[in-house]
Amino acid sequence: MQCSPLSIGTTSARKRLDKVTPMRVLVIGSGAREHALVSALLADPSVSYVACAPGNAGIGAAVDVFPVRADDPQAVAALAAGIDAHLVVIGPEGPLVVGVADAVRANGIACFGPSAAAAQLEGSKAFAKQVMAEAGVDTAQARVCTDLAAVSVALDEFGAPYVVKDDGLAAGKGVVVTADRAEALSHAQACFANGTTSVLIEEYLDGPEVSLFGITDGKVIVPLQPAQDFKRAFDADAGPNTGGMGAYSPLPWAPANVVEEITTAVLEPMIAAMHKRGTPFSGLLYAGLALTSRGIRVVEFNARFGDPETQVVLARLKTPLGQVLLASALGTLADLPPLEWLDGAAVTVVIASSGYPESPVTGDAIQGLAAAAGVEGVQILHAGTTLNEQGEVLSAGGRVLSVTAVGQSLAQARERAYAGVNLISLAGSHHRRDIAELASQA
Ligand code: AMP
Ligand code: GLY
Repeated sequence: MQCSPLSIGTTSARKRLDKVTPMRVLVIGSGAREHALVSALLADPSVSYVACAPGNAGIGAAVDVFPVRADDPQAVAALAAGIDAHLVVIGPEGPLVVGVADAVRANGIACFGPSAAAAQLEGSKAFAKQVMAEAGVDTAQARVCTDLAAVSVALDEFGAPYVVKDDGLAAGKGVVVTADRAEALSHAQACFANGTTSVLIEEYLDGPEVSLFGITDGKVIVPLQPAQDFKRAFDADAGPNTGGMGAYSPLPWAPANVVEEITTAVLEPMIAAMHKRGTPFSGLLYAGLALTSRGIRVVEFNARFGDPETQVVLARLKTPLGQVLLASALGTLADLPPLEWLDGAAVTVVIASSGYPESPVTGDAIQGLAAAAGVEGVQILHAGTTLNEQGEVLSAGGRVLSVTAVGQSLAQARERAYAGVNLISLAGSHHRRDIAELASQA
C-alpha cells in the first residue's frame, strides 16, 4: 500500500526520543487496564521511568501518580512535558474522543492512541458502521433511529432478540439485548431521555464472542493474542451489561487461524479505510467480534485497549511493551520483530462493588490484598481503589480489582485467580464464578 506521510510519528517526537533514552512514559487513566499497562512498562528494560495520571491506590504504590484529569487535553499535555515524558499512553476512550492524543502530539511528544477524529470509530457507532461499509467489513445490519417511531419499526423489521444501542459512549452499558419488546423500546426511550440523538437497532448476532486487539501506526497493524470478555454482571450471562467482569486468553475452542482471518478480513481493511479518509488510526484498534454460523461479524470497535481483556493479554506478552507502543506512536511498526508470547494461559476475575453496574457503593475497606498477591502466578490489579488517611485501601468505583493469574493451562490460571479472589474481602462485593469455566474444560 502506498501511504502519504502521516501526522503521527512527527519529526519533533522522534528527535526528542533520539536525544534522551531510555524512555520515560506517562500512562493516562485509572483502571485495572492502566495498572496492567504500568506493570508491563515497568518490566521493559528500555523504560527508565513510568508515571500515571490520575491512577489509583495500586498504581500509586508502584509509580508516581499525578492528580490530573485524564480528559483535560491541555493539562495532560502540560504534565507530559513537565515530567519529560517521551511517550504518553492513553488508556480510556474518554480522553481520546476529546483530543488528548492530539494535544500531546501538538506538544511534540509521541503518543500511543488515536486522534479525536480517528477515535470516532468508538465514539460513534453510526460512524463505525459507515467506515465498515466503506471497508467491506461484515457487521450486524443496523438502522440508525432518531425517534421512537423509527425504533418501533426497526424492532419489528429485525424481530427478537432485540439489540438496542445508544450511539455514543456509554462505558459498555449503553447496549440492551433482550427478547422483551417493551424493554427494548424503553431502553431506546431512556437513551433519548439522556440526550442522545440517535439509537441503533441491530440484527442479533449469535455465536461466541472474541476480542482481538491490533496495535497500529496507521499503516501496519500487528494483532495481539485473542481474549474473551464476560460482559454480563452475573453467572451464566445473567443480568445487565457491564464494562466487563472477567476475561481469559487464549481461546482453545476458536479455529486455529482465527487471528489471521480477523486480521485480513477486519483489522487491515479498517486501517486502510481510515487512512483513505484522511484520518489515519494509530494506537490500538479493538475489534469485538461474534463468530456466527455465517462467519465473522464485527459487534463493535473500540479505540483503545479493552478492560479486562488487557489484563490477560499483557500477562501473556513476552516482548517488552514499551518498544511496541513506541513503534506505534512513531510510525515504525513495520520494523518491529514479531511479538513473542508466553506459553500457557491467563485468567482475570473482576471484583465489583455492591450495586455495580447500576449504583455502585464505594468507600468500604478492602482486606486480603497482600495474601492474594502471594498466590503463585497472581497479580492484583487495582481499578476503583483509593487510600484513606490511615493508608488503608478503600473501594472507590464500580469495578474495584482485577485478580489476574497466569498458569500452564487455563484450568491452572483459573484456579489461581479464584484462589486470589477468595482471599480478598470487600463488604457487599460481587464477582462471577464462571470466568473461563467452560473454556478450561475444553
Ligand atoms: P457493544 O457495546 O456494542 O460492544 O455491546 C455490548 C455487548 O452487547 C456485546 O459484547 C454483545 O455481548 C452484545 N451485543 C452487542 N451487539 C450485539 C448484536 N448485534 N447481537 C448480539 N449481541 C450483541
Ligand atoms: N471489555 C470491554 C471493553 O473494554 O469495552
